Amino acid sequence: MKKAKYLVTFLVMAFMLILTACGTSETSGNGSDDSSDEKKTLRVVTDAAYAPFEYQDKGEIVGFDIDLIKAVAKEAGYEIDIAHTGWDPIFVELEKKIADIGISSITINDDRKKTYDFSVPYFLSTNKIMVPEGSPIKSAEDLKDKTVAVQNATTGQEAVEGLLGKNSDQIKKFENNNLAIMELKAGGADAVVADNTVIEEYAKNNPNDKFVIIEDKDAFAQEFYGLMFSKGSKIKADFDKALNEVFDNGTYAKIYNKWFKVDPDVQLLKDQQ
Ligand code: ARG
Repeated sequence: MKKAKYLVTFLVMAFMLILTACGTSETSGNGSDDSSDEKKTLRVVTDAAYAPFEYQDKGEIVGFDIDLIKAVAKEAGYEIDIAHTGWDPIFVELEKKIADIGISSITINDDRKKTYDFSVPYFLSTNKIMVPEGSPIKSAEDLKDKTVAVQNATTGQEAVEGLLGKNSDQIKKFENNNLAIMELKAGGADAVVADNTVIEEYAKNNPNDKFVIIEDKDAFAQEFYGLMFSKGSKIKADFDKALNEVFDNGTYAKIYNKWFKVDPDVQLLKDQQ
């Protein structure tokens, strides 16, 4: 009798062990099995404080970039998991190969190319200046004796440093762009310099703030956004191919239209390749 009881306990435990083992192999993803062709879920990192490209809506990460990366990953045959890490951690995670892709309105430039790989360009942007209505600031030149708020470690910061000097104490740097805009609103800065679409949308959607946008083509260059990868990334080629497919099959235009209500100039982007 006692023996039978032991046997039952043993069998139950063995059965539970088998169940646990099955469970583990199911949840540990496909990447662990070398013999299978299935791909592991990629970690995509973003700074979701840059509407309309990436922002949080009721706890969900949404935006043009988010729709785009979902479409491109699907085309490339990868599962993705999107995490809002903030801006600086994107660069840290990709350098340390913790994340697989950064998408966050990231401008492709030579400095970043030393440390990271980029996809083909997917969006044209330029820095512009946002000021309160009636401001004496009419061009980049006028920023010279003013206080300017920027997001830290962005091309906006770099552009303003070019005008005011690298260590100028007139440049107020913030961890994200929304904080820079809040500083302008609070009167702690005379202007914000950031990507045109972001401040144009902000000014349009917040008419009570009475902000206007100033363009200065001589001071601010054309920039292109790209997906950012770790140096030597093996998935870059798949994503370049998939990006070109969504350019060609109309998916890119559909997403672009949803967010910006106009058609994109896909040829202009392709001409950059
Ligand atoms: N395009 C600029 C850059 O690459 C600013 C991007 C900021 N993106 C963001 N999600 N906050 O430096």
